[in-house]
Amino acid sequence: MTTAPSFPDGRTNSTDVPAPFSTARECAWNLIQLLHSTDDLGQFASEAAPHIRKLLLRPDLLVLGVDRATNHGDIASAYLYYDYDFHIVIGSHPKAGATIPVHDHGTWEILAVYRGEIEHTLYRQVGDVATPGHADLEVVENRLLGPMDVVAALPPSAEIHGFTTTRPDTHLVVVVGGHFKPIRRYFQPDTKSYVERHEKSWRGAIR
Ligand SMILES: [Fe+2]
Repeated sequence: MTTAPSFPDGRTNSTDVPAPFSTARECAWNLIQLLHSTDDLGQFASEAAPHIRKLLLRPDLLVLGVDRATNHGDIASAYLYYDYDFHIVIGSHPKAGATIPVHDHGTWEILAVYRGEIEHTLYRQVGDVATPGHADLEVVENRLLGPMDVVAALPPSAEIHGFTTTRPDTHLVVVVGGHFKPIRRYFQPDTKSYVERHEKSWRGAIR
């Protein structure tokens, strides 16, 4: 645990954030403070959810971001907040039935639905974890998530997830702390297997 920083303008909390919603910077600041206050990622994620929901109340999130190249193919994605160690993005999926393959991260990720709906599945890996290409995944949770719903993929036990959009025009806010590992695993739960892919393989030049 480290000491929580104070606001650059001297404030030590965000109680003076204008209601009813917060800025992305305010949301990030609150989450960073929470990260400094605990070493328990589960506690962090549960306490982070109200701050993220406050950001989701904004009616203008779709026009605030800075364009970002995505890790998972043909979706629109934009940064709402970025520093090297922490970022908040909004990802837009125009069609129902779009699937984000089951993947890991190497760090924690919190997902929140801004508009639309997804069927989201969270997994943990069980059994043999030593054989390359093999992964036996156990479902931790499978549920439909709608607006204002928040779910966390947290290492080490439950940081693998995947989802499918179940409504068109689905928009998701994603919060990530730390850094994605450069080589990510993409799983096929039915065959208990995975392939490795570079985190930036969407660029085409890196496989
Ligand atoms: Fe993810």
